[in-house]
Amino acid sequence: MFGNDIVMGLPMSKQKRTANRFGLGVAALAVLVAGACVVEGKVDEGENDPLRDGTASSLPAAVAPSGYPGAPGLGDSFYPQLGNGGYDVLHYAIQLDVDPIPNTIQAQTTIIAAATQDLSAFNLDLAGLTVESVLVNDNDAEFSRQDTELTITPDATLLQGEEFSTKVTYSGSPMPLSDPGVPFSEIGWHNREGLIYTASEPSGSMSWFPSNNHPTDKATFEIQITVPSTFTAAASGVLVNETQSARRTTTTWQMDDPMATYLTAVYVGDFERVENRQADGLLIRDYVPREHFDVVVDALAETPQMIEYFEGILGPYPYAVYGSVVMPFPLGYALENQTLSLPALDTIDPLIVAHEISHQWIGNSSTVDDWSEIWLHEGFATYLTSMYLAEHHGQDINEDMRRNYAFMSEPAAVAPQQISQGQLFDASVYLRGALTLHALRQFVGDDLFTTILRTHYQQSINANTNTAEFLAIVRRLANQEAADLVEQWLNNALMPPLPPPLTPPPNLNQSP
Ligand code: ARG
Ligand code: ZN
Repeated sequence: MFGNDIVMGLPMSKQKRTANRFGLGVAALAVLVAGACVVEGKVDEGENDPLRDGTASSLPAAVAPSGYPGAPGLGDSFYPQLGNGGYDVLHYAIQLDVDPIPNTIQAQTTIIAAATQDLSAFNLDLAGLTVESVLVNDNDAEFSRQDTELTITPDATLLQGEEFSTKVTYSGSPMPLSDPGVPFSEIGWHNREGLIYTASEPSGSMSWFPSNNHPTDKATFEIQITVPSTFTAAASGVLVNETQSARRTTTTWQMDDPMATYLTAVYVGDFERVENRQADGLLIRDYVPREHFDVVVDALAETPQMIEYFEGILGPYPYAVYGSVVMPFPLGYALENQTLSLPALDTIDPLIVAHEISHQWIGNSSTVDDWSEIWLHEGFATYLTSMYLAEHHGQDINEDMRRNYAFMSEPAAVAPQQISQGQLFDASVYLRGALTLHALRQFVGDDLFTTILRTHYQQSINANTNTAEFLAIVRRLANQEAADLVEQWLNNALMPPLPPPLTPPPNLNQSP
């Protein structure tokens, strides 16, 4: 979520790129067609290979490559090169030895994955840094790099269904990246005078670890981070171990629920850990900058109540732990890093704190399968937050929506599903996205609306979803007319009329 100054910049309307969702990119196709389908010297029957063309049989067995390379991208409509084909990551073990000043790391990332095809080679996404070695199943593997693609050729073909490990040893000075979807800021690894934070949505995690960098390939994580003992480190997940040696402190963090790479966070700085346990046992731990201790602790005091509120709407909080690491400077935005949000001094008002909390359900657990669908994250988070503020701060949700509507009525405003890549975080996905849900609520009534939100979430816990799935739920639980209304709000150049006010703004949390 942004500070207001950023949301205020209204975009030009642009045509959405035609989706090539989960299709193979043209480059991937070329690689596939050129690849041969030979396994261990004999021609594969190729039933599972849609692009098999028989050229393999003309290669001499002694030099015949086995399997074929995994695709270098997953065909996301905004980020076709992000992520890679041919395997599915199950687990990342990331080890970082960090010197905050002068911002250097010595690192190792081990990836456990399952091959989804016979693989002669496969890619990881990594930007910058120096790769020192790559081991696949503990054997040296060849590797090469081009832009953000790290191509790895194991010494033996990985067979479809096989689980394999890839250990990448690398080092250097991680740098933030520019991303066409985030024109207002750099993303990924940031280091401000020794204070480190990661803000990776959508592509930035490749600035500090190699991965299958697309939200459709979630995995569990273990992050081990070593820093000089004068610093405090934190990362996504549960703190499971802390050791001390030679003036360096190593902490280990476990994220046992699936996590998308863009939500993986590490922080290093001068923070005080503040712990609280919810009535239901959920651990809340915040990292508070010492020089702003009272203000920040105060600002985060509503966290338990916010979690309870969203639990009432959507269902149990999805993870074992929650908290925020607050930057001791203004940032202009906040980010919903999994189990450990990133706000800053200028983004800890209740609206933003609640927004990032709501993302733990919607965005983090229930995640879009293509970046062009981002209104499903931001529109939901914005509307859920307005609902919370109506319930607990006496804010008038009708007034909120009137303001959003006025703001979105500019002729240049784009519809939430018509955004281009450069409009990934356009005000429309937040405000018109929220208005879409408000119009649906007005149309179907509170009880059915809550059931729709909850069903949408619960059908995609720890998984991916998209607008078509949401519309199918609306159609099934309400009717075609309701689904059509949602579609107009999401796609029509002109906004439908603002629905009449809800009277009185009801308390959805009371519904069963
Ligand atoms: N998803 C964030 C939110 O809660 C916006 C993050 C924008 N910043 C970034 N570095 N991607 O609204
Ligand atoms: Zn958001």
